Amino acid sequence: AQAGVVIVGAGPAGLVLGNLLLDRGIDCVILERRDRAAVEGRARAGFLAAHSVRVLTENGLAAGLLARGKTHTTCLFRSVRGQFTLDYGKLGLGEPHTVYPQQELVRDLIAEYLRRGGEIRFGAEAEEVAGEAGGEAAGEAGEGRVRVRVRGGADVTGRYVAGCDGHRGIGRAALTAHGTRTARRDHGVSWLAVLVAAPPSLEAVGYALHERGFAGHMARTAAVTRYYLQCPRGTDPADWSEDRIWTELAIRLRTDEFGPLRQGAVLEKAVVDLRSDVLESPGAGRLWLAGDAAGLISPSAAKGANLAVLQAELLARALEGALAHGDGTGLARYAADCLPRVWRAHEFSHWMSGLLHGPAGEDDEARYGRALQYARLESLRTSRTHQDFFAENYTGI
Ligand code: APR
Repeated sequence: AQAGVVIVGAGPAGLVLGNLLLDRGIDCVILERRDRAAVEGRARAGFLAAHSVRVLTENGLAAGLLARGKTHTTCLFRSVRGQFTLDYGKLGLGEPHTVYPQQELVRDLIAEYLRRGGEIRFGAEAEEVAGEAGGEAAGEAGEGRVRVRVRGGADVTGRYVAGCDGHRGIGRAALTAHGTRTARRDHGVSWLAVLVAAPPSLEAVGYALHERGFAGHMARTAAVTRYYLQCPRGTDPADWSEDRIWTELAIRLRTDEFGPLRQGAVLEKAVVDLRSDVLESPGAGRLWLAGDAAGLISPSAAKGANLAVLQAELLARALEGALAHGDGTGLARYAADCLPRVWRAHEFSHWMSGLLHGPAGEDDEARYGRALQYARLESLRTSRTHQDFFAENYTGI
């Protein structure tokens, strides 16, 4: 059997795309290398921009997040100089965030996709986007079909392949092998990302600037909170005991001055290196990418899942044009439609990274860098113009 679209990867990008395609009468099959429990249990991001909530709502995918998500309109900055709250819901475009753990969104998206009659093959690892001998860059299999090889299973063919398989996926590899270039930056910073079984300690997202490094507090649910601690590149999470984590969080979040954190068991800890990249062209021929496959964005402004939703929305429309109406202009324009918005998100993410991370050390360069960091923070605290800039970009996609 041949699908209209073979989607590789059941993350937010692949699942939103699959749901939108089914809704438009385009049949698809999703190949996901992990099992369902692993995909549904993976705790990741949790901040949905207003644009993402709109897309999910308009497409009948928002019941869970509207029922259980929490609206956030403020964030808090702390440093040696004190703290202040930005009411970003009243600044810039006046848009909120919806906090809804990504694994819950993924669960909702899988359930709805299956309810719509979609097929997902869990435990199916795509090995290669392949064509017959002489097939084209994007894996043409003749007669407008493309073939995906599945490890230990039968090939799956379709009219198009959507690579939604993350930044180490085969979709990206197939494009870059044929000359698609990647623009990238290593922000040179790492975070110890910790998930704890404790209610949030602040009413809002908290960003702490500290000479020992950045610390972050992100609400997830009433019972689970995400914390981040900037750490040296190459840090082994095993070196961070629960005690050490809470002690360091207390120092950087200045609990001496602002009150204690609500502690709980550490559920997960992992080190994330802050890196960003963007494929200069997120598709060609019969292979198109969305989400982390098309570009990885550092987590400093929580844009990753939101870009995945944006790209899935644009790609669904483009694939519908090609498959239902024989009109390839949407695909031809896909890069031009999404890249400017992707780059805006990267620009702001990079700006946030500069705000949150000062250089370590006491040499002249480090002291200069930290002074700039505090000057930026002070401008954000006092300038309405700067606050509007922040809010518009913080919530915008
Ligand atoms: N075959 C099948 N599935 C694969 C393969 C493969 N070869 N390679 C990867 N996958 C699957 C992974 O197991 C994963 O479930 O593709 C999926 C990719 O999902 P994500 O990594 O969540 O990527 P994406 O959907 O693009 O969502 C991106 O969500 O949490 C945020 O910060 C994250 O910004 C990121 C956003």
